[in-house]
Amino acid sequence: MSLEAHAEELRVQIAHHNERYHTLDDPEISDAEYDTLVRELRQLEEDHPELAHEDSPTRQVGGAISTTFDPVEHRVPMMSLDNAMDAEELSAWADRVTKGLEGDAPTFVCELKFDGLAINLRFEDGQFVQAATRGDGHVGEDVTANVATIDDVPERLAEPAGGSALPSVLEVRGEVYMTGSSFEQLNERALAAGDKPFVNPRNSAAGSLRQKDSSVTARRNLSFWSYQLGEVVGGPVFDSHVAMLEYAAVFGFPVNENIRTFNTIEEVAAHCTYWQEHRHDLDYEIDGVVIKLDDVAQRERLGVTSRAPRWAIAYKFPPEERTTKLLEIQVSVGRTGRATPFAVLEPVFVGGSTVGMATLHNQDQVAVKGVRPGDTVVVRKAGDVIPEVVGPVLNLRPAKSKPWVFPSDCPRCGNPLVRPEGEADTRCVAPDCPAQRDQKIAYFASRGAMDIEGLGEQMVEKLTATEFVHDPADLYSLTVDQLVELERIGETSATNLVDAIQASKAQPLPRFLTALGVRHLGPAASLALTNEFHTLDTIMSKSTEELAAVDGVGEVIANTIVTWFDQKSNKAYIERFREAGVNFGDPNAALEAERARAAISQTLEGRAVVVTGTLANYNREAAAEAITSRGGKSPGGVSKKTLALVVGDSPGASKLKKAESLGVPILDEAGFESLLATGELPE
Ligand code: IVH
Repeated sequence: MSLEAHAEELRVQIAHHNERYHTLDDPEISDAEYDTLVRELRQLEEDHPELAHEDSPTRQVGGAISTTFDPVEHRVPMMSLDNAMDAEELSAWADRVTKGLEGDAPTFVCELKFDGLAINLRFEDGQFVQAATRGDGHVGEDVTANVATIDDVPERLAEPAGGSALPSVLEVRGEVYMTGSSFEQLNERALAAGDKPFVNPRNSAAGSLRQKDSSVTARRNLSFWSYQLGEVVGGPVFDSHVAMLEYAAVFGFPVNENIRTFNTIEEVAAHCTYWQEHRHDLDYEIDGVVIKLDDVAQRERLGVTSRAPRWAIAYKFPPEERTTKLLEIQVSVGRTGRATPFAVLEPVFVGGSTVGMATLHNQDQVAVKGVRPGDTVVVRKAGDVIPEVVGPVLNLRPAKSKPWVFPSDCPRCGNPLVRPEGEADTRCVAPDCPAQRDQKIAYFASRGAMDIEGLGEQMVEKLTATEFVHDPADLYSLTVDQLVELERIGETSATNLVDAIQASKAQPLPRFLTALGVRHLGPAASLALTNEFHTLDTIMSKSTEELAAVDGVGEVIANTIVTWFDQKSNKAYIERFREAGVNFGDPNAALEAERARAAISQTLEGRAVVVTGTLANYNREAAAEAITSRGGKSPGGVSKKTLALVVGDSPGASKLKKAESLGVPILDEAGFESLLATGELPE
C-alpha cells in the first residue's frame, strides 16, 4: 500500500471511530487503540507533510455533531489536549515549555483527568441558561435540559461574599461523569429489567446526557467537576489558573480536591505515578493527570495549535481496557465443584500485564454478556481486580458465529454437571472428582491462605498423581525422598517445598481457618473469629449464636461453621493438623488484647467521623486508625448519622456541602484532637 493510501485509510478509520465514540456513544475499540491510530497518522503526516490534509482528524477536536440536539457555537473554542504516554514524553513536553518561555520558570498545576464528557455551562446574569457538549470544539450540542437535572450544576450562581458583582456572562467548563456507585446502581437496575448492562461509567454518562427525555437523565445521577473557564464578561481578569478555579468554587461549582501545584517536572511525574497507583481509591474514573501552566501570561506566550494548547498536557495512564479476540470458551471446575466458564483470549497487554484468560463467572453471565467464540471483545483489567470480559463488539462479529453452549458433563471427571433450579452456578457433584480435590489443595496453599511457596496448581497435580497426597493434611507428612521420586523434581526444589510446607505450620490462625475452605468462611470472618476467640478449640466449642454475635460473622457463616466442625470426618481431619503441629492459636492472646483495648479509651464507640482534605499531623490512614482504635468508624461519605466532619486543607467540596446541608458539625484539626481525647464535640 502506498503511504498516501495508508494515510487515507487511517483517516477513514479514525473518522469512523470518532463517530462511534462521540456521536453514537458506542465505541468499537478502546481509547488506547484509538490513540495508537491517531499517533500513527500524526507521525506519518509529520514525516511526510505532503500527506497532511486540512481536515485531517489530527487537527480536529472530538467528533461530528449529531442532529438530535441543536447546535451551539462556542464563544471560546473548546480545545482538546495533547497526550504524554510516559514520563519521558512528559519531560519532553516540559522541555518544550521551558524553551518556549525562554528560561522563565513555570509553575505546573496538576488536576485529575476525569473520564467523562467535556461540557460548557453558560450563566447569564447569574442564571444557568445553556449547556453544550464540546462537539468539534467550535460547535457543540445543546444539552441544557439534560444538564439541568445534574445536582452539581447550580441553577443560579451563589452570590459571592462581600457583595462583589456577579459577572454578566460566566462560562464554566468541566467534565460530566458518573460515579462508580451510580454506575453500579444503574447496572443493577438494567439487569433487573433484563436489559443489557452498560460497559463503563463513561459510556453511561455519555449516553445519559444524550437522552431525548431529560427525566431519564435525571434518574442516572450524573455529577460534574469544573476545571476551566470559557467566556467571562464583567468579571475579574485572572493571572493564574488556581485563582480561576477558586473563583468558580465561590459560585458553588464543584472543584475537585486533588489539585496540586509543583515547580519541577520530576515532582509532577511522581504525582502522576501516585495517581496511577491510586486511581481506584476514587469513586469516579480517571484516565490520567492533566498538567497545566498556572500563569496566564505564560500560557499566552506559548499559545495553542489547531486543536490543543501548548501550555497543557494530559499524562495518560496505561490502558485498562483493550479489545482482543475471544478464541474459545472453556470450563474449569473449582474446589467446591463449581464449573466456571472462562474466556481464552488472544493475549493482550492491559492494566499493566498480559492477559490471556478471563473469567466469565457462570452460564447466565455468558448469556448476559452475549459473547461467542470468535468475537472481538472488550477486556478490562482495573488495578488489582481480576481481568474481565466486558462484552462483544457486535459490529465485528463473524458472520458464521454461533452462541456458546454450556457443557453437560464435567470436563475433568466426565460426570454430569448439575444446576439446581434457581441457582446461578452449575456444579460437578461427583465426590471423587480430581479437579475438586486438586483445587482444594491449591487453595489451602494459596497466598491468601497458608501461603506455601512453590505449591501452585501444577505441583499439586503432580503430587496427587502419586499415592502420597490425597488432601491438604497429607502435605505435612510429605518427605524430600518421596518428592524426588516424582519426575522432574530435583533435590533442591524438593527440599525447598518441604521446608515451605513445614514453615506454614506456624501461619497465624486466621490463615489456617481460611485454608480449611469452609463455605463462606473467608479471611475477614476468620480474622474476626480469631480476634474474638483466639484459639481454634474455643471457636469449635462455640454455638451458632455465639459465633453469629461476632461483628463481621453473621448467621449464615456461623451456621456453616458449626455444621462443618460437627461432622465426624472433619473432626478427624482437624486432628491430623493438630498432630502435625499446625498453629491452632494462642490462649494468652485474649488477655493481651484486653490490655491493649483498655490502654486506649473508647471515646468514639459506635460513632462515625468523616475526614476530608489534608491534616497536618495525620495522613489518611493515621486519621482512620485514630478513629477506629477508639471504637469509632471512618466511612467515606457524610450522612445524617455522621458525628462530625473533620476538614483539613483542600477538602472535598461535596462532603462539605453535604455536611452543611445535613447540619453535621464541622471540625478543624484541633477540634478533631479534642474529639478523639474526650469523645465530646468541642464548643
Ligand atoms: S482541560 C484547554 N482538565 O480531557 C484544556 N480536561 O483529552 C481543555 N478532561 O476534552 C481541557 N479532565 O474532556 C481538562 N482536569 C481536566 C480534565 C480534562 C478530563 C478531558 C476533557 C477534555 C479531554 C482532553
